[in-house]
Amino acid sequence: MSHDDGEGRGPKDGEAEADPNLVARRQLLGRMSVGLGVAGGVALGVPMVGFVVAPLASTPPEEWRSIGGIGAFKIGETVAVTFADASPLPWAGVTGKTAAWLRRVSETEFVAFSINCAHLGCPVRWLPDAHLFMCPCHGGVYYQDGSVAAGPPPHALPQYPVRVRDGNVEIRTTPIPIG
Ligand code: FES
Repeated sequence: MSHDDGEGRGPKDGEAEADPNLVARRQLLGRMSVGLGVAGGVALGVPMVGFVVAPLASTPPEEWRSIGGIGAFKIGETVAVTFADASPLPWAGVTGKTAAWLRRVSETEFVAFSINCAHLGCPVRWLPDAHLFMCPCHGGVYYQDGSVAAGPPPHALPQYPVRVRDGNVEIRTTPIPIG
């Protein structure tokens, strides 16, 4: 209970603490602060968790894409082929396409290399006379089996699975690991 001490001074600190209205107001402000803190944490945390989880949840589907009849490819030749990306967006247009270097190894066997360099993704070129893949960006060089011959690529050219079905050569789209 507050009282005047006879010298015109107000209530002491301890007495102010005991004022029920003041205590209730402080409790309300305290709860509002906690509530706002939680809301702020959720507002920041949900997008961050989504950012981390989204790539895992939206892994592009792997699909077999037909790239032509088997007769269109000569044994021993390495040619560039294009096909629809793993998950092209409806409005992607030509950017929804990707490419690979396809080599017919035998009557029934094919091998397909990523056209994107394993360093930073530049398109590599096949040099048939040298039997090498060359990257024009930083001088990366790969042997004909895709293994690194020189330069900064950290690993071999990734390969796509290839199969022959009903006389057609098919490539399975997969996300390509770069870098
Ligand atoms: S992107 Fe090919 S060597 Fe750097």
